[in-house]
Amino acid sequence: MTTDLQPGSRLGDAELLVRIGRGGMATVWVAREHGRAPKEDRLVAIKAMLPELAEETEFVRMFLDEVRLVRSIRHPNVVNVYDVGEHEGVMWMSMEWVEGESLHTVIAEAGKRRAIPPEMAVRIIADAAAGLHAAHELRDENAAPRGVVHRDISPHNILIGTNGAVKLVDFGVAKAVGRVSEATRAGQLKGKFGYMSPEQARGKPIDRRSDLFALGIVLFELTTSRRLFRGETDIETLKLVISSRVPPPTSLDPHYPPELERIVMRALQRDPQARYQSAAELEADLRQYLKSKRIVVAQSGIAGLLKRVIGDRIEQRRRAVRSALRTRARGSVGDDLLSSEPVFTPTGGERISVTGASVPSRASGLSYSGVSSAGGSLPGVAPPSSRSVVSRGMSDPNRVIAIVAYSVGVAGILIAIAVLYLNGH
Ligand SMILES: Nc1ncnc2c1ncn2[C@@H]1O[C@H](COP(=O)(O)OP(=O)(O)O)[C@@H](O)[C@H]1O
Ligand SMILES: [Mg+2]
Repeated sequence: MTTDLQPGSRLGDAELLVRIGRGGMATVWVAREHGRAPKEDRLVAIKAMLPELAEETEFVRMFLDEVRLVRSIRHPNVVNVYDVGEHEGVMWMSMEWVEGESLHTVIAEAGKRRAIPPEMAVRIIADAAAGLHAAHELRDENAAPRGVVHRDISPHNILIGTNGAVKLVDFGVAKAVGRVSEATRAGQLKGKFGYMSPEQARGKPIDRRSDLFALGIVLFELTTSRRLFRGETDIETLKLVISSRVPPPTSLDPHYPPELERIVMRALQRDPQARYQSAAELEADLRQYLKSKRIVVAQSGIAGLLKRVIGDRIEQRRRAVRSALRTRARGSVGDDLLSSEPVFTPTGGERISVTGASVPSRASGLSYSGVSSAGGSLPGVAPPSSRSVVSRGMSDPNRVIAIVAYSVGVAGILIAIAVLYLNGH
């Protein structure tokens, strides 16, 4: 039984260390995967499905097939899947461990103080769309499309790493879970209906455009701080999804940028033909939107957000993993599988800033000034679970601060050149 899984349990080549998550159908662990020699060991995430699922033949077949298939999706915005198997009645899959948190948790934690800045939300969704496109485009050896559809795009399945990387997880899983008998499934899908497309909610055949609708819901919620489809019961939620009545964000917040509204509304069209036809199109429009507003959101800015809202918990988890590694040292290889670097390390020489949003400099077209306005332009807003809508402008004060900082920098350089020049003469 999964409840019997504990630190030290073995699933395939992996030795479980610390449990990091629990969903309706599985538990997720950080584990040490044993290589041929201890120095080839690595840390992985293991998803262990509830044991009753292993008794469902259709599920088992589909889980093995689908997870094997999605192993070949290789993209920086998709969690890498390594292996899949069954061990003493538990179906498991091993994958890249993303040290960080799900967007669901980040939204909830951020909302307690200050919601995720909308420009950062746009970048997160653009990154997720890039990963989604790679999966949708997966082809077989004859270059024929595999027709991969995620089916469960929601804030739970969008992970944010401590370096600010955005990664989609659980490709293939929802399709297998779809084969689980009603009796086992009862109650397990709770809370999943609010991120379905109307065609999915009606049980109709779906294609990649269904995932685009789901990503559109996440974008809507992140930028309006409001849940889109949430009824009192699952049935009511399903009805709301099927009717797909989407209030235009400007009707909720007069400051909502109309250009962004056009993108959100196009992703959320009830008729799949009227939506974006590929995740690449959605990604392009989101990036173009940021460009037109002259906003650059650095990946390190997303790392900064994670650190701000949930840094302590992530540090704590790392300590737990390190301590489990020490207890279960293999030969001379102990806790050194886990980097001794601080959890939050800036990437690519960028400084971590709190918003990470800045204005492109004229010279390079990019600015990594890391200007930190601490999201100050944005009033504290309630988390998406609340119904309140609070006006949130698209960081004009950020821009002013960035321009001032940039000007001060340029003035400083000019003064330095003048001093050098005068000294030289
Ligand atoms: N590869 C991974 N790396 C790090 N954390 C993960 C990984 N996969 C899943 N998780 C964490 O485990 C939690 C539980 O996952 P899951 O069983 O899929 O349920 P759900 O997606 O409904 O939350 C996720 O919300 C996420 O925080
Ligand atoms: Mg999941």
